[in-house]
Amino acid sequence: MKNINNQNGLNSIWTDSLTRNLHPDSNALIDHLRTVHQEHAGFTEACASSCRDESGRNSYEWLAEIVPHNESLNILDLACGSGPLLKILFDRNKNLNLKGIDMCPEELNLAKKLLINSKVNLIESKAQNLSAINDNSIDIVLCHWALTLMDPITPVLDEVKRVLNNKGQFAALIDGPMNIAPKYKEVHDLIYSYVQEEIPSYGEIDLGDPRIRGSKSLSDLANKTFPGANVTIETNVVSMSGPVTQVAKIAAGFFYAAFVLKPKKRESMIADLSNILTISKKSTYAERKGRFSMPISRLLVIPNIK
Ligand SMILES: C[S@@+](CC[C@H](N)C(=O)[O-])C[C@H]1O[C@@H](n2cnc3c(N)ncnc32)[C@H](O)[C@@H]1O
Repeated sequence: MKNINNQNGLNSIWTDSLTRNLHPDSNALIDHLRTVHQEHAGFTEACASSCRDESGRNSYEWLAEIVPHNESLNILDLACGSGPLLKILFDRNKNLNLKGIDMCPEELNLAKKLLINSKVNLIESKAQNLSAINDNSIDIVLCHWALTLMDPITPVLDEVKRVLNNKGQFAALIDGPMNIAPKYKEVHDLIYSYVQEEIPSYGEIDLGDPRIRGSKSLSDLANKTFPGANVTIETNVVSMSGPVTQVAKIAAGFFYAAFVLKPKKRESMIADLSNILTISKKSTYAERKGRFSMPISRLLVIPNIK
């Protein structure tokens, strides 16, 4: 097993490549994601499940709204991670036929525990090759906070199209525009400035295909794979509050970039982050309250049915 998060920070083929000023390839990306998730399985769930929008929904619940409540449908959660979205769907409607796919065994192990008494079918596979799923067999493909990590992305969208039946829909939860969530850009810039002290090109080159991060380029991509489809992108903001250091640690845990920092740098970044996120000034950090908000977007692709 690789020695990660040691005194040298996290190392992967992807970070090595950036450090040497090279452009990491897709194998390096897979290696990096596996390295992070091997050690920190469940970190997305830890943050995303506690951040809620004005109506009290977390981002899993917001994405799950795409699935009708009372039908027996075939649903695929692409890059299901530790399984929180599948759990929401299973608890809501036992007639759903649920499948989850992820490439990280550590995440799937958590999902197995979470979904222990369900019939959810969990499969280890890359999203670029869904050969375990038959053509035209799925009613809705969901993908929560993972599309931004996938490169190449076109084979993923082609596979989604192949497995969907002719009335099938695709919905994905992704990062929203930075400026809609208070202080989010400040948080992002702080974390990236720390990481760039160690790896200057981090950020200039980021995980995944950058086209997923812009709404116009994302719509264009979706329209290319699903010509004539109705493509919508809605935005929302989810937040969490609590003791500021705890909020700062959970918020930092949500940024893949933050895992690259050596422990000492991470500590000082968390202290700076706590200052940004503080909403009630008290004399000690332990007494201070903090709030972290994240912008999210929900992509919905409804293919054109003739
Ligand atoms: C940020 S986590 C999100 C996990 C889960 N959907 C959630 O929101 O809690 C990203 C997940 O995508 C998975 N992933 C990233 N790229 C993938 C790929 N190309 N194929 C399959 N899984 C992938 C990772 O293993 C990880 O579990």
